[in-house]
Amino acid sequence: MASEANMAIEALLEEGRTFPPSKTFIANAHVSDPAIYERARQNPEAFWSSWAEELHWFRRWDKVLDWDVPWAKWFVDGKTNMAYNCLDRHLSTFRKNKAAIVWEGEPGDSRVLTYWDLYREVCKFANVLKGLGVEKGDRITIYMPMIPELAIAMLACARIGAPHSVVFGGFSSEALRDRIQDAEAKVLITADGGYRRGSIVPLKQNADASMAETPSLEKAVVVRRTGQEVLMQDGRDLWWHDLTADASQDCPAEEMDAEDVLFLLYTSGTTGKPKGIVHTTGGYMVGTYATTKWVFDLKDEDTYWCSADCGWVTGHSYLVYGPLLNDATSVMFEGTPDYPERDRFWSIIEKYGVNILYTAPTAIRTFMRWGEEWPQRRDLSSLRLLGTVGEPINPEAWVWYWQNIGGGRCPVVDTWWQTETGAIMITPLPGITNLKPGSATFPFPGVEADVVDEAGNSVPLGGGGYLVLKLPWPSMLRTIYGDPDRYVQTYWSRYPGMYFTGDGAKRDEQGYLWLLGRVDDVLNVAGHRISTMEVESALVDHHAVAEAAVIGRSHDVKGQAICAFVTIKEGVEGSSDLIATLRDHVATKIGAIARPDDIIFAAELPKTRSGKIMRRLLRDVAEGHALGDTTTLADPSVVEYLKGQYEEHEA
Ligand code: PRX
Repeated sequence: MASEANMAIEALLEEGRTFPPSKTFIANAHVSDPAIYERARQNPEAFWSSWAEELHWFRRWDKVLDWDVPWAKWFVDGKTNMAYNCLDRHLSTFRKNKAAIVWEGEPGDSRVLTYWDLYREVCKFANVLKGLGVEKGDRITIYMPMIPELAIAMLACARIGAPHSVVFGGFSSEALRDRIQDAEAKVLITADGGYRRGSIVPLKQNADASMAETPSLEKAVVVRRTGQEVLMQDGRDLWWHDLTADASQDCPAEEMDAEDVLFLLYTSGTTGKPKGIVHTTGGYMVGTYATTKWVFDLKDEDTYWCSADCGWVTGHSYLVYGPLLNDATSVMFEGTPDYPERDRFWSIIEKYGVNILYTAPTAIRTFMRWGEEWPQRRDLSSLRLLGTVGEPINPEAWVWYWQNIGGGRCPVVDTWWQTETGAIMITPLPGITNLKPGSATFPFPGVEADVVDEAGNSVPLGGGGYLVLKLPWPSMLRTIYGDPDRYVQTYWSRYPGMYFTGDGAKRDEQGYLWLLGRVDDVLNVAGHRISTMEVESALVDHHAVAEAAVIGRSHDVKGQAICAFVTIKEGVEGSSDLIATLRDHVATKIGAIARPDDIIFAAELPKTRSGKIMRRLLRDVAEGHALGDTTTLADPSVVEYLKGQYEEHEA
């Protein structure tokens, strides 16, 4: 980065200044009166039900909340449909021909679907699914590139009440297989391939490998995207374009119970097995609707762009559902920020006149490294609000974003939430909050967050501890698919009556929340959630490996990097070839996002006398810290030796 810009950022940070919203922003914002916090606090149920009132219900709920810790039912006995609220609701207004999805393909092709277009496509595909025998409650796995058919497929599932499980297109065939198996999906929707930096990701080929071991699957629907040759198994594999060609556009939306499942989304936890987070219809709809409107101050005239992939929860809540519920124009982008050039994001903003951009800190840090000249080439004056999500944002990156992308005029909303929370939980409201770079600020109205110590006691202002949520909220996960015990155990057992987030946080003297990252064995690598156990099991799956311990170490761009300490079997040589093989092996087992950054061969791993691997010491080694307490080690010389190995690896 140019040193001048660097100095400007440092000067801004040194002042410890806050960034209040401008007068114009306040005057035009959906919310600018801080009294809403108190109003929501006094009666959270009334607050949430006032949001629900704005949406369409076939039958109104009898009761807002039924809470039998940790089992929640929101909008009890209400009947609604997510796709109806995203589409049909807008067709009787001037918005019927408004752009719903503005799509930009990686090669530069583009497609605009109005609300009416999208409605027709969704109805057609919903009828296709019905024709394949899909019934309400059947699970559908979606493994696709970021093309409009992905959003169409999600909405079609929602329309007929078949829960979708979107699997990120970067996952391997084994990861896909495990997720299809766990959900016992009936249909897979995929594509021949997807573009990535000019080359092709062979999605169908990956899916073929998975489908060899997924007995529940009856059909696979394949979108032709890249046009390369693919195998189509007779009777099982069908082309999207053939099926939709004559499909009827008439498909009434299924009247879903508020608590019927809308989707499953797999995410990493602290074991080797990903968990299927279950979200239901009514509460998730209300939560995403409300937060999209207030956090992004989303207006009819805005062109809004969330750069996340629909394979993650952000793409569900803030690319598809939240924006469409708010009758917004949502940009969807298939490619990556550096293809064909490092100004691709800025060229998209210029091309479509994007007003609101929601992206990840890791992307911002990458842009920072590439330098200001890239955004400077493009006209970014349409932007009026910026957002970030997925990991803590360092104040330098925040200020860089504010200054170089937002031109010093756009509020930056740093939004904290999780796959499990369904919607944004801790966030500024851009017409109210005085921003502090690096802080996600305060809970959304109606959300009660606290920072507690080991014993579950609230920590006074100025202190740090674990972030918990103390009230149920509409878009909360309802369970883990097929594993209710794990749901109770993971989130509700550490502190009775409180939702345990797994994140550390501190609260400053003014009550601002500062998120500090995970406190469990979950890594956050470039905003992707990866469990250390998943990577460890992928490593020990290789015949050369006897044992593996994986930790995260800090990384300038990715937030965390994956560092694996590996003991190999006797007689195997720890060569650089083996390192490359093991890194590839993990990528094949899980996906490229889990490829370890470092592999360090260790004759032995540091263990307690009872045989437990001491990851804390491995972290000390990798971070170059002074070694913590080693007295409980079975063999104290092990870490000194590892330090030497690590330093050698670094050199
Ligand atoms: O550690 C927190 C981090 O991402 C985790 C949730 O990951 P995932 O379920 O994949 O959802 C990501 C997108 C919502 C959290 O437990 N995280 C997310 N947003 C922030 C964050 N950490 C700090 N600041 C954030 N704004």
